Amino acid sequence: MTTPIPAEALRAVADAGHIVVLTGAGISAESGIPTFRDAIDGFWSQYDPRDLATPEAFARDPELVTRWYDMRRGMCAAASPNAGHQALVHLQQQVTARGGRFTLLTQNIDGLHQRAGSTEVVELHGSILRWRCATCAAHPQDLPMPLPSFPASCACGGHLRPGVVWFGEALPESALEAAVEAAAACDLFMSVGTSAVVYPAAGLIDLANDRGVATMEVNRDPTPLTGRVSWALTGCAGEVLPRLVTP
Ligand code: OAD
Repeated sequence: MTTPIPAEALRAVADAGHIVVLTGAGISAESGIPTFRDAIDGFWSQYDPRDLATPEAFARDPELVTRWYDMRRGMCAAASPNAGHQALVHLQQQVTARGGRFTLLTQNIDGLHQRAGSTEVVELHGSILRWRCATCAAHPQDLPMPLPSFPASCACGGHLRPGVVWFGEALPESALEAAVEAAAACDLFMSVGTSAVVYPAAGLIDLANDRGVATMEVNRDPTPLTGRVSWALTGCAGEVLPRLVTP
């Protein structure tokens, strides 16, 4: 179900001087990439994140963890950006053209915002496209798809790991700093396609809410944010975002 968009919400998007958008797995769902917490096809309905997305899991079973991330790397490479990603490219262009500021924060590791054309994307949870050695931190270039072995080895003898943030790891410092600064300065914060349960990303909207500036959610389903935003727009990101942003 897609709800009508109130005129004030459209005006807020059209007039804001600094828009921050925080995206989650929901925006890439229409590109065919499964979310994490959807009951039927979400990754965490089939797998325990403790077995796949923690440093302990990688230390215990690097083959399993590497295979899973390499499978997802292939999935991301095969996917294409959708109308939701494209609407955010238009929004960035429009806000910038009117002399405003636009900050795109994403928890996604799939690179689809950049492939759609968004620039200066702040990747809070890293990227599945960039891997590094878990021992010497070297960044291998032109990784073959799929990897030649599981786990794949670095020249130093260490194992390669995906450049993503695992549960129990800190977010990249510069990305978190940029996100906090933007959320504390914006006059419209939009939360798109995220269940808003994984911190610190889920707490960023409070830096806008606490200042009383406009906040908006675009999500197919209710989340803990739904009752706490100025406008909660129900529907798929690929349908709602293009209606918010007329090219
Ligand atoms: P989740 O899977 O937790 O949430 C996805 C949200 O998108 C849910 O609220 C869905 O209802 C909604 N949704 C699904 N399809 C949608 C669509 N087409 N349009 C709009 N909304 C849709 O994903 P995230 O919130 O991104 O971290 O998860 C946050 C973090 O938890 C991820 O970055 C990942 C995960 O575990 C790590 O792996 C560290």
